Amino acid sequence: VAAPINLRDYEALARERLPKFLWDFIEGGAEDELTIAENLAAFRRIHLRPRVLVDVSRRDLSTTVLGQPISMPVMVGPASMQRAAHAEGELATARAAGAAGTLAVFSAGSFYSIRQIAAAASGPLWFQLYPLINREATARMVANAEAAGCKAIVLTVTAFYGARRERHIREPLVTTPEMQIGNLAEVGYPDVYDGVADPMVPLTWADMEWVRSLSRLPLVLKGVLTPEDADTAIDHGVEAIIVSNHGGRQIDGVLPAIEALPEIAERVAGRIEVLMDGGVRRGTDVLKALALGARAVLLGRPILWGLGVAGEAGVARVLGLLRGEIDNAMAQLGVPDVKGIGRSLVRLAR
Ligand SMILES: Cc1cc2nc3c(=O)[nH]c(=O)nc-3n(C[C@H](O)[C@H](O)[C@H](O)COP(=O)(O)O)c2cc1C
Repeated sequence: VAAPINLRDYEALARERLPKFLWDFIEGGAEDELTIAENLAAFRRIHLRPRVLVDVSRRDLSTTVLGQPISMPVMVGPASMQRAAHAEGELATARAAGAAGTLAVFSAGSFYSIRQIAAAASGPLWFQLYPLINREATARMVANAEAAGCKAIVLTVTAFYGARRERHIREPLVTTPEMQIGNLAEVGYPDVYDGVADPMVPLTWADMEWVRSLSRLPLVLKGVLTPEDADTAIDHGVEAIIVSNHGGRQIDGVLPAIEALPEIAERVAGRIEVLMDGGVRRGTDVLKALALGARAVLLGRPILWGLGVAGEAGVARVLGLLRGEIDNAMAQLGVPDVKGIGRSLVRLAR
């Protein structure tokens, strides 16, 4: 691929350029990787219903998430290991997201600490928490994120236990001394990354009050796939949920995220904000997700592809390409404003 013109081209380039163990880490998932494939295939089963002769000469892609204006309904999702894909890692991603006018979520498992990332960033940030066994250190990690100016805490609930990623078992991650998790080092865990968040503790709903007590920031729950859990999350006072199966990385055979979305959005019925991730690769995917009840989507692997290929410029281009596709799709479909998108934009396969 000489000049990439879509996200898939970045995937192909990243595959050529990244070492195999890293490519496998980024691309791979649990067991037979059925859910990874289904996350993508499920978008193909949803059809768009264009409306004609609408004035779409001016198109508005902007929206808000938890009150934060963003220039398009696409955010950068949390992903660890960014510094392995590019020396500037999370710093490059943060700069590119800010330049694109959107929000970026950074993982507790980032190599650069949230303090370092915030110093480089020009746009809004959320901090994604993996709680530690040591509660006091967890509290300091969240306090660091709050002090760095993060606007929300995202609690990921899909990865408390190590996953059966078979590519990873066959081709273990090559770790080097630079692969230190900055957020952990800053709260007294100088551990080298070993492929699982070592000092992490599995939580239950009973711990939600404690999580809440760590910060006054809005709390977002990442990894909800059922309306039942969406209800329980609302009972526990979360401000938003991210419908996600962790990009098929944790457990194989679960619902594709885009198929889980509509019944969750129906149950939530506007009580809190609903976001989604998993398999978003095209502007039309973004519009389908919005039609099915997401306020915005997050990107996982495509950001890492851009980062691995060309650092900040690569992430900027990935976000720019997707923006262009969304804008064009809006023109083609008769959608002047993403905020007006409703269920009538799609028909689910019968
Ligand atoms: C290499 C890699 C690392 C990830 N690390 C995290 C993480 O630290 N925390 C988290 O909540 N999700 C993590 N994720 C999951 C993403 O946030 C997201 O849910 C998923 O990648 C979305 O699917 P997509 O890759 O198809 O866009 C990671 C994903 C990848 C590919």
